[in-house]
Amino acid sequence: MKISFDTEKHSVSCVVRFVAADKLSTYNLPFLHDVHAKKGETAIFRMDATPIVTVGMGTSTKICAEDLRNAAGQAARLIEHEEWSSANPVLPGFLPQEAEAAAVVEGMILGTYRFDRYKAQPTLQSLTELVFAEVDKAVEKAVHKAVVLANATILARDLSNEPPNILRPSVLSEFVIEHFKDTQASVTVFAEDELVKRQMTGLLTVGKGSTHRPRFIEIRYVTDPKKPLIALVGKGLTFDSGGISLKSGRDISDMRMDMAGSAAVVGAIDALVQLQTPCNVVGLIAAAENLPDASSMLPGELIQYPNGVTVQVANTDAEGRLVLADALIYAQQLKATKVVDIATLTGAAAQALGFRYAAIFGEDSVVNDLRNAGDNTGDYVWPFPMPQEYEEKLKSVYADVSNIGKGSGGAITAALFLRRFVGESQAWAHVDMAGPMEAESTEGYRPAGATGYGVRILAQYVLDQDV
Ligand code: BES
Ligand code: MN
Ligand code: ZN
Repeated sequence: MKISFDTEKHSVSCVVRFVAADKLSTYNLPFLHDVHAKKGETAIFRMDATPIVTVGMGTSTKICAEDLRNAAGQAARLIEHEEWSSANPVLPGFLPQEAEAAAVVEGMILGTYRFDRYKAQPTLQSLTELVFAEVDKAVEKAVHKAVVLANATILARDLSNEPPNILRPSVLSEFVIEHFKDTQASVTVFAEDELVKRQMTGLLTVGKGSTHRPRFIEIRYVTDPKKPLIALVGKGLTFDSGGISLKSGRDISDMRMDMAGSAAVVGAIDALVQLQTPCNVVGLIAAAENLPDASSMLPGELIQYPNGVTVQVANTDAEGRLVLADALIYAQQLKATKVVDIATLTGAAAQALGFRYAAIFGEDSVVNDLRNAGDNTGDYVWPFPMPQEYEEKLKSVYADVSNIGKGSGGAITAALFLRRFVGESQAWAHVDMAGPMEAESTEGYRPAGATGYGVRILAQYVLDQDV
């Protein structure tokens, strides 16, 4: 998307007005009686001059950046429907200019996203240029950041939407190497012997049933090695069939997105690199394919991690926590002071919160920072408790811990399992994004399919840390 700030010099295909119900009389619009200000209602007014697209925002006092992102996404799709190539969005003045310009840009770029590279006739993007009225440098800077975050979110959407027969663990690792080539980030990949040498028990066990072998991917972006390190850990199951505990009775095509956590990590680091953020982050991705086969891990299998912990694999479909454990142990070895893992971990989290909120667990300081980052970016999280009593649910007769929790509270017992692999001195949070990984239908700035959830909350979280 090309973006400029000179309405004087450019003629545009349309003007976009975000209209609040209680401000209608102030807009100076023709056809005022036909303007719909109800939230989500759109209209087009064709005149002798440039057409005007209006998007209803409801009551002005209740409007937040997320409303503007959604409205902008919707407007952008309407503009594409008209096959118009450029638009002049008028900042409505509900919020500070920086916030409004950024929200409109994110909403328009993300709202017109589509994943059609495998269709015979991909539809060409018609809307390719946004022209704003002149603004000060601070607003231009906010817009630049918005473009970077939106494109990083698209990167994560693309990776998550990619079909499982194409995006294998090795393909993901090759992509990451290629993507960060010639940037300030460096990538290291462990496969086969290296995984054995490093005792990456989870990846080796979960990956046993597939000919498409597991990979451990490390993305390092460190601008001042003397300062503390933040680890971003992502679940990277390129396909999760459940394994021998096979998922059944429904279409499990969605499980191609079981690497959406790792896509969020890749996208977040991409944004931080692009923004030349001074920070120390390491992205740790545990990538594997979970399939049933003669050599698959078995329900009842006993495995041991290099920290001594033994695990009863009671259910091979609880594979995410097994591979995340490797990455969490590795984050301890790297002496990361803050650790955030993000994963499409449990159906229970999706059941509880639905598609707009991820569940978040962990230390208050990290949880609060992430909650703020989430509220500001629209990647919402909601805190869950980690009651000590629930540890009982993870007890195994013959191992230190079982990989599934008895009874209810599945999202919580998964978090309790992960905590066993986090260092005493590390400030840790776990984000279970099983709910928001995918949009079922197109709404606002989220077209149906992978949402790219996690990129913006993680990037903003790191941006907010003072390093
Ligand atoms: N990847 C799934 C969780 C999931 C489900 C993500 C739906 C997105 C949408 C995970 O590996 C899984 O299978 N979890 C099991 C755990 C259970 C066996 C303890 C689940 O939630 O059913
Ligand atoms: Mn599973
Ligand atoms: Zn899974």
